Amino acid sequence: MPETSNAAIGGSAIPGRVPFLRPILAIETSCDETAAAVVNADGMLVAHEVYSQVKEHAAFGGVVPEVASRRHIEVLPELVEEVLGEAAKAGVVPEAVAVTRGPGLVGSLLVGVQFAQAWAGARRLPLLGVHHLAGHLHAVLLEDASWPMPYLALIVSGGHTSLVDVAGAGVYRVFARTVDDAAGEAFDKAARLLGLGYPGGPAVAAAAETAGGDRERLVESLMTHSPDFSFSGLKTALRKAMTGVVPDARRIAVLAASFQDAVVEALAVKVERALRERRPERFLLTGGVASNRALRERIAGICGAAGVTFAVPRPAYCTDNAAMIAMAARAGAGRLMTRDESADPSLEL
Ligand code: KG4
Ligand code: ZN
Repeated sequence: MPETSNAAIGGSAIPGRVPFLRPILAIETSCDETAAAVVNADGMLVAHEVYSQVKEHAAFGGVVPEVASRRHIEVLPELVEEVLGEAAKAGVVPEAVAVTRGPGLVGSLLVGVQFAQAWAGARRLPLLGVHHLAGHLHAVLLEDASWPMPYLALIVSGGHTSLVDVAGAGVYRVFARTVDDAAGEAFDKAARLLGLGYPGGPAVAAAAETAGGDRERLVESLMTHSPDFSFSGLKTALRKAMTGVVPDARRIAVLAASFQDAVVEALAVKVERALRERRPERFLLTGGVASNRALRERIAGICGAAGVTFAVPRPAYCTDNAAMIAMAARAGAGRLMTRDESADPSLEL
């Protein structure tokens, strides 16, 4: 493959930060979802497939990295064939490839990046590496193609809980983060403590729905003076509540709802403060945990009261998918990758 030049990506002198308006094949394999998607030159999603490995990992109570990467190898080629077939029916042929370069599980990322490198290389197409969180931050474009920058965003996923100032594509400033567990990780650990299995977030949310209005107070207050998030105290409180008792389904439901309320409240307090101090015009809620109904409603309410335009992608675009990676690349958040660059599990935003 010849050295790809900046001119190969839409004639732009600066890779990233300017829109990249070509049909894109996107690939996402950072954790336990194998995903591929194609967007056309107008930014319309013409093909979108996600293979969830939930069943493969459920027996282990969490994601097993070795199992995940092996499954990506088996599933990805077929999935890419599928989205290319769907795209072809819409008359779309990709002119670039975007792939999640990091962060994530190293073995899983490598499968996606190496596949993308080979596929793009064989066709002499530019390859754009995309930060996984940039994907979540630009997923909003799947719902509203004209959603403008700048905006503030709360990313709540299995690995991250961050408040981000999005000044432009590729121009992000994280101004609050978790000091221990991520929100999704907290849900997953809570589910394990409550015996609700994996994946934890949807299981806790489903159990909470059956609790009615009953709650148990888990911790006195989650309000700290720090702008950062912390969920480990809540997890400890839940463990204590479960110690020495044989909980019935009713109590499990009440504890699940109490836990969910506490997480939502901890996030809500910090979002309210960010809106008050930073006065953004727009606010985005995104990442896997953003599929949580209680959280969506609470943050929508806070934004409404503050007169801030609010967006949250539909649940299928909140959890990991490749369409968001295509949108991030399209927005200009991708970085041209050379042949000797590889996956980077600890890529910085
Ligand atoms: O963004 P995502 O799909 O993957 C990462 O980038 O980590 O987020 C996955 C996380 C998991 O921890 C999962 O339990 C959580 O999102 N999650 C939820 C819900 N659906 C997924 N948490 C709470 N409520 C939900 N409905
Ligand atoms: Zn994610």
